[in-house]
Amino acid sequence: MKTIIEPFRIKSVEPIHFTTVEERETLLKQASYNPFLLKAQDVIIDLLTDSGTNAMSTEQWAGIMRGDESYAGSSSFYHFKSVIQGITGMPVVIPTHQGRAAEKILFTHLGGKGKYVLSNTLFDTTRANIEYSGAEGVDLLCPEGKQPSLIAPFKGNMDTTALENFIGEKGAANISMVIITVTNNSGGGQPVSMENIKAVSGICRQHGILFFIDACRFAENCWFIREREAGYKGWPVREIAKELFSYADGCTMSAKKDSFANIGGFLALHDEKMAEQFMTTLVITEGFPTYGGLAGRDLEAIAIGLKEVMDEDYLLYRIRSIEYIGEQLEKEGIPFIKPTGGHALYLDAAAFLPHIPAEQFPGLALCAALYVEGGIRGVEIGSVMFGKYDSEGNPIPAPMELVRLAIPRRVYTQSHMDYVTEVIVDVFKKRHAVSGYKIAYEAPFLRHFTARFEPL
Ligand code: F0G
Repeated sequence: MKTIIEPFRIKSVEPIHFTTVEERETLLKQASYNPFLLKAQDVIIDLLTDSGTNAMSTEQWAGIMRGDESYAGSSSFYHFKSVIQGITGMPVVIPTHQGRAAEKILFTHLGGKGKYVLSNTLFDTTRANIEYSGAEGVDLLCPEGKQPSLIAPFKGNMDTTALENFIGEKGAANISMVIITVTNNSGGGQPVSMENIKAVSGICRQHGILFFIDACRFAENCWFIREREAGYKGWPVREIAKELFSYADGCTMSAKKDSFANIGGFLALHDEKMAEQFMTTLVITEGFPTYGGLAGRDLEAIAIGLKEVMDEDYLLYRIRSIEYIGEQLEKEGIPFIKPTGGHALYLDAAAFLPHIPAEQFPGLALCAALYVEGGIRGVEIGSVMFGKYDSEGNPIPAPMELVRLAIPRRVYTQSHMDYVTEVIVDVFKKRHAVSGYKIAYEAPFLRHFTARFEPL
């Protein structure tokens, strides 16, 4: 069989509202050229994020009805807990309303001034929670991960030599933990190999440093291990996941990704003494330990989703659908991060629009062009999101100018992906006519969400 089909039938549909190029020009102007300020109903294909935007299954919707809403001791919590224990092998499971709430609890206790938290690449909210605690976040990504067009199987790996050097320089006592993000969202959705996880875990154990996993997209990462790493061919994804988690002391997870839920998250770990402290913060900020900021129905949907995400037919289709867009773009010579990652395709806006300098935001210009051309909403991951100013107010650009097209799970079909490709190719043909932008308004922090722009 050559064609890999969507492994589901569609039972409930949501209409897409179509707009014309002229209408989208007006709508984008009204949104001050910031895709975050568009109304979702004015978007044809929404690739802003794969977080909380997934389609739930009939089983999950049935679980929503079965959800036990008892304040304490809900049966949905015990279902949630046992599924997570089964996957991670970690006895303590703390439910949170989403991933960043788990991070907040973790770094409230394990962060603090003078401490370092090391990673392959920290996601923004993880970094923000670390820095809010007074600690410093440090990314030690392997050299391959920093080269967008280089083909390598595990570009999300942590640089173990840099890790050992860092420990030697700063001292293990000053490092509160190492947390590896699987897959590496901010680095192109690239996977981390089992060998790397094992090596990092070994170094941490040798120095008495805690080792955690940011597990939002663990199943997608395990699929890549199965496909690309020697010794794992044909393994059930559940077994690969079990091994992956066996090297860690704990994990955080946003259940809005690899469990097809619209909301939710958790923190899981081995150390019951440490967990007692976390539980105190949980009760103050999230809720009682058997619901932690979630309804019983959410706990139920997550438990079911976590089992479904490890289905190999699903993962084959999932990873293939993103690879498929990459193949079409490659034929046209369109620049993107290679190989394609687990949850998104990352266009290289600096190479796509080389006539637009970083100060004029090529990533934003590409997002705007994709929206006007075909109603596609992506997200800029470049100098709008990560740019800074020096002490004289001169802009410091981000290291890369990317546009992330994140694919919600089980939401769009192959014809939607064909349409996305067609729109990107059309914009590429007209790329010389695309111009840059300047900032008309920006907030002091996280400016990308609310900034207003003007075309140049
Ligand atoms: N860690 C990673 C790797 C993430 O990608 C995210 C969220 C979080 C933690 C935080 O989880 O949103 O549930 O609080 N990523 C989303 C995205 C927002 O669009 O990539 P959360």
